[in-house]
Amino acid sequence: MITGATGVLGGEFARLCLRRGENVYLTARSPQKLSALRGELVKDFPSADIRIFACDLCDEAARGRLYADASGLSFRRLINVAGADIQKPFALYDEQKLVFQIRSTLEGALSMCLFCMQHPAEKLQIINVSSLCGEYVMPYFAVYAAAKGALTSFSRALAEECRGSHISVTAVLPGAVYTRPDVVEYIKRQGAWGRLAAKTPQYVATKSLKASDRGRRRVIPGLANKLAYLLSRMLPRGLMIKLNASMRKNTSKDAF
Ligand SMILES: NC(=O)c1ccc[n+]([C@@H]2O[C@H](COP(=O)([O-])OP(=O)(O)OC[C@H]3O[C@@H](n4cnc5c(N)ncnc54)[C@H](OP(=O)(O)O)[C@@H]3O)[C@@H](O)[C@H]2O)c1
Repeated sequence: MITGATGVLGGEFARLCLRRGENVYLTARSPQKLSALRGELVKDFPSADIRIFACDLCDEAARGRLYADASGLSFRRLINVAGADIQKPFALYDEQKLVFQIRSTLEGALSMCLFCMQHPAEKLQIINVSSLCGEYVMPYFAVYAAAKGALTSFSRALAEECRGSHISVTAVLPGAVYTRPDVVEYIKRQGAWGRLAAKTPQYVATKSLKASDRGRRRVIPGLANKLAYLLSRMLPRGLMIKLNASMRKNTSKDAF
């Protein structure tokens, strides 16, 4: 089961799972994008069972319809990729945007975990794509960082609850990833360090699957990101907040 499958990273996960000989159940909001993706994947993996079901993860009733469709299946892997990286000052949000970002990034992922845990194969490996941003206090990216921080915290807690069972949980904390054109443009503007730390979707998806196979509970893909994270832990928290604020103050993202 892969959420956010029509996105750049989600599509990469789908291809890697299919290459491993796994069947896939793909979901995202847009039925058109899902059908187009299925069309491409069927050409490359003609013998695989590739199912699609459009669902807005923010909507409890829509999730119920997906669960009804998938209830006869058992899942050996759940990859929660869907999320909304809206970035702007909190005062510029409206209620709808706020609910959308939190539900698609956090509530949807938790709900999918519950469903797949109720329909596991002999073994179930859960991967929750969180973000390195979730480790920080991020002015001007506050809702995203808070939601991803909560997703990481949940994943690590669930991993402990599942210790010794047939279920493993891995939180993936990428730094910047070359995905949508607006994200690629943003990475370019970050200068040399941004380009050094940014990773391709293939790299992140491959590292995530390997970490999950090894039963790792948390993975930060890329040496530069790991180093930046470790260094940031040594700086005073107040200073980090100010640095994060100055880095984000003049940029915004609202692709949803
Ligand atoms: N790109 C980066 O630099 C970066 C860094 C760290 C973490 N991440 C995380 O990696 C994940 C994928 O990122 P990406 O850049 O590949 O994103 P993306 O291309 O924008 O893809 C997002 C996916 O989520 C789906 N989605 C969004 N809202 C949804 C909803 N309410 N219900 C169901 N599906 C929904 C979208 O499909 P529809 O539009 O059809 O619904 C799409 O398939 C996200 O969780 C993101 O936060 C990204």
